[in-house]
Amino acid sequence: MTVRDVVKSFGPIHALRGVSLAVARSEFVTITGPSGSGKSTLLGLIGSLDRPDQGTITVAGEPVPHPRDAVRFRRHVVGFVFQDNLLLPYLSAQSNVEAALLASGVGLRERRARSIELLTEVGLSDRAGSIPAELSGGQRQAVALARALANDPQLLLADEPTGALDSASGQLALDLLSSVRERRGMTLIVVSHDDAVAARADRVVQLVDGRVLRS
Ligand SMILES: Nc1ncnc2c1ncn2[C@@H]1O[C@H](COP(=O)(O)OP(=O)(O)O)[C@@H](O)[C@H]1O
Ligand SMILES: [Mg+2]
Repeated sequence: MTVRDVVKSFGPIHALRGVSLAVARSEFVTITGPSGSGKSTLLGLIGSLDRPDQGTITVAGEPVPHPRDAVRFRRHVVGFVFQDNLLLPYLSAQSNVEAALLASGVGLRERRARSIELLTEVGLSDRAGSIPAELSGGQRQAVALARALANDPQLLLADEPTGALDSASGQLALDLLSSVRERRGMTLIVVSHDDAVAARADRVVQLVDGRVLRS
């Protein structure tokens, strides 16, 4: 994953003022920095939720597509985990994971089988039938992770994944993220204020005021 000279403004606000960053395949990088320093903006540009004003971003050797044309990219190349897990509240854990597979055209039988495999991978095979309100914060985050993994992304982007969890659940969520990344060999970029997250990463990149301070 390569970010080169990326600039992004929202009207008068200069969210990113020329950011360059290279993350190797299978590397685990944490992005830290004060609130408002541009972390989420950068993650969103890498995942094609939005596009840079200037500069280029490549993922797995390919330029990140324009958000308008990014359906396949967002389904198969990158996976997202957010602070708020954004699960569908009236669907079971299994159906939440299946929804991601449905979107990419996987048939019913395979959806069922794969969603159970994914829930097993995140340690939730026994909670497949529970709706989000019946799960703990950490368990909900694990379902969100299973959903993000559904289409086997090469790059997983996580924006403050432990931000809404107490420290014990945060540790578990972090163990889970690291073990999944090791098993799958995928690249992992985690935005976090949490020192425990930074301690696990191969490298910490600090953003301050829309610029990389340290990488
Ligand atoms: N969609 C948006 N519209 C206007 N301003 C935005 C938008 N997204 C982010 N910003 C602004 O850009 C700056 C960087 O925001 P953000 O990337 O969310 O920072 P961080 O994730 O580090 O807290 C902030 O000043 C924020 O208010
Ligand atoms: Mg943010």
